[in-house]
Amino acid sequence: MNCFEGQAADAARVESVRLSSDEKSVVIIDQTQLPGKMEYRILSTAEELWEAIYKLRVRGAPAIGICAGYGIYCLARQIGTEDEQQFRKEFSRLKDYLDSARPTAVNLSWALDRMERVVLSDSGRTVPEILGLLREECRSIHREDIEMCTKISEYGLTLLKDGDGVLTHCNAGPLATSRYGTGQGPLFLGKERGMEFKVFADETRPLLQGARLTAYELQKAGIDVTLICDNMAGMVMKNGWVQACMVGCDRVAANGDTANKIGTSSVAVLAKYYHIPFYVLGPTSTIDRNCKSGEDICIELRKPEEIREMFYREPAAPKDVKCYNPSFDVTDSSLITAIVTEKGICYPPYTESLARLFEQA
Ligand code: MRU
Repeated sequence: MNCFEGQAADAARVESVRLSSDEKSVVIIDQTQLPGKMEYRILSTAEELWEAIYKLRVRGAPAIGICAGYGIYCLARQIGTEDEQQFRKEFSRLKDYLDSARPTAVNLSWALDRMERVVLSDSGRTVPEILGLLREECRSIHREDIEMCTKISEYGLTLLKDGDGVLTHCNAGPLATSRYGTGQGPLFLGKERGMEFKVFADETRPLLQGARLTAYELQKAGIDVTLICDNMAGMVMKNGWVQACMVGCDRVAANGDTANKIGTSSVAVLAKYYHIPFYVLGPTSTIDRNCKSGEDICIELRKPEEIREMFYREPAAPKDVKCYNPSFDVTDSSLITAIVTEKGICYPPYTESLARLFEQA
């Protein structure tokens, strides 16, 4: 094993979200502080959890789901009633509140719905019994995510060759998940196995997840990473430096249309033009069969300050200039070469191939 293989394994196992040992709070790596500071944050109240999700201290669809699962468990422990009906009512109120933090990544409501199902199934249990089941459920959500990311990375790696140039957008690595990641998972796994890639990381305006997080994680793992501005993707493709694009996802509609960080669909259009395969990687929990197509996906709009002021020493744009700041866009399924899940690789037509994943279950 060379030293980078060990480094890659360590980088792939970073714990971005966990339950505290007294089970009263959720401990997260504050991703807004990276790469400058590795700062942990302890979230114990509903407001702290909501703020951490809204402000992207914890971010990336799977990590948000894990945080929400642990978070609602901690809040449920604080409800302080033995009355089952009252407990259920307060649980649902807290669940709706956390769910309102961000709309696009389906993993938030998916994890909260999963926890709520535990509370709502079978009346006649005592509150301590329900809490015991909730504890199991949030731990399962986390454990399953580790397994899913590992499998997605294995499948994704079969699509790459040693020495490939890979372009990625936003951050879908270990920080955004639990292990390896999704969109960037194959890169960490491949590195652990001694493979080399040349990665181009889009900086990902306006919140710079690519520059701050992806470049940091890949560099830490000893993976050859080159940071580019979002508008340089076409140039590196034209130069022949990219053999595959790999990205994560926040919500995949039943027909394969995929919401991911704003800018993803432009990368997919460019990839199509330059005949480069464009792969979306994500767990089946990110597939929302209630959304028929991308038109049903709610896109989060964020504050103009993120464009006008953030990450500049001085605000860069005219004060009060009108801004449009969608956090995600939808990549049309016709631009996607394959969708890689923990259950296998799906190819078009996605309405059929994605539905088959659920039939198997
Ligand atoms: O706004 P963010 O940083 O939470 O957006 C994250 C993404 O778009 C990721 O690509 C996606 O959640 C997949 S993370 C494995």
